[in-house]
Amino acid sequence: MGRRDDDVPGRILDLLGDGGFHSGAGLARMLGISRAAVWQAVQRLRARGIDVEAVRGRGYRLPNVVDWLDAQTICGALAESVMAILGPLEVLRQVDSTSSELARRMNAGWPSGSVLLAEQQTAGRGRQGRPWQSPFGASLYLSVGAVFALPLVRLGALSLVAGVAVARALEGLGVAGVELKWPNDLMHRGRKLGGILLEVSGESGGPARVITGIGINVHMPGASARRIDQPWTDLATAAGTAAPGRNRLAAAVLNELLPLYGRFAERGVGQIADDWARYDWLAGREVRVLAGDRQVEGVARGVDDSGALMVRTGQGLQRFLAGEVSVRRSR
Ligand code: BTN
Repeated sequence: MGRRDDDVPGRILDLLGDGGFHSGAGLARMLGISRAAVWQAVQRLRARGIDVEAVRGRGYRLPNVVDWLDAQTICGALAESVMAILGPLEVLRQVDSTSSELARRMNAGWPSGSVLLAEQQTAGRGRQGRPWQSPFGASLYLSVGAVFALPLVRLGALSLVAGVAVARALEGLGVAGVELKWPNDLMHRGRKLGGILLEVSGESGGPARVITGIGINVHMPGASARRIDQPWTDLATAAGTAAPGRNRLAAAVLNELLPLYGRFAERGVGQIADDWARYDWLAGREVRVLAGDRQVEGVARGVDDSGALMVRTGQGLQRFLAGEVSVRRSR
C-alpha cells in the first residue's frame, strides 16, 4: 500500500500490522519521533475508527487485524485463467467507497476486470441507499468492474450470479451453511454475513458497465456492529478459528466471480441455476415483498430464467424483478 513518508499514523499502522505489542518508546525510536507524537498519531488512528489497544507495560497493538490486505498475496492465489482476464488490482488503505472509486477509475480508463479493495471505507454504500458499516481491517470491501456487450435488460440475473460466486467461494474455503437471500444477501443461520451492490451504467442497448461491490463481515467490532439495523453475523462467528484470512477470501471470490462473469453473455443464469436452488434461503418461506408501492404476501418459490423472484400468492404465481423481501414465517 502506498503512503507518504510524513504519514506517521500510516507508518504506525504498518508496524502494528504484525498483530503484536509495540511499546510507545520502541515505536518512537523506530520512527525517529517523540513518544508524545506516537500518542498523538494513535489518537488520530482512533478518530478514524481504527481500534488501537493500549496495555500498560506492553504498549500498543491492533487487536483484530492480523492479515493486511496485500495485492501481491491476492494475485498469487489467483488461478492462471483468472489472471488472464484480471485488469489492475489495487488495495487502498482508506477510501470513501471502493465502488465509487472504481467507477471514477474506470471513467479514467481502467478496463473491464479491474478490482479495488480497501481496509476501510468512510462512506460505504449498501442497497436501497443504506450505509454499509466499513470499519478498518474488519471486513472485506471489494469492488469488481466488468463491461458486458449486452443490453441493460439482459443483466437482471447478474446479481444472482455474483451471490452464487461468493457463496461458492466461502464454501470452498470450508465455511459451511452459507445461504443466499434473493437477490444477493449472504446469510448464515438467518443472519446477514455480507451483501452485494450491483451498479449498472450504459446505453440501454449496451455495452453495460457493471460495478459489483462485495462486503463480507469478517471480524465486526462492537462499536460498528451497534450501528447495523438488522440481524448480522461475521465469519469469526460463522467459522470460528476456521475463518479464512481476508487475502485468501478475496482471491477465492475473484476465482469464482470472474469466470462466471466471463461466461454470462452466452450462458446467463443457467450456469448457476442448480447452485441457486441449493443456496436459496427464501425457498418455501412465507414472505412479504415490497416492490415500489406494491406489497405482496405469499410463499417464495425460487427464481425464473431472468433471475426474478417467484412468489405463490392467493392470486397465483407472481414474479418480481426488484424489491425488498422480508420473511414472515420460517418453514
Ligand atoms: C447490501 O446492502 O447488502 C450491499 C452491501 C455492499 C457493500 C460493498 S463493500 C464494497 C463496496 N463498496 C461499497 O460502498 N459498497 C460495496
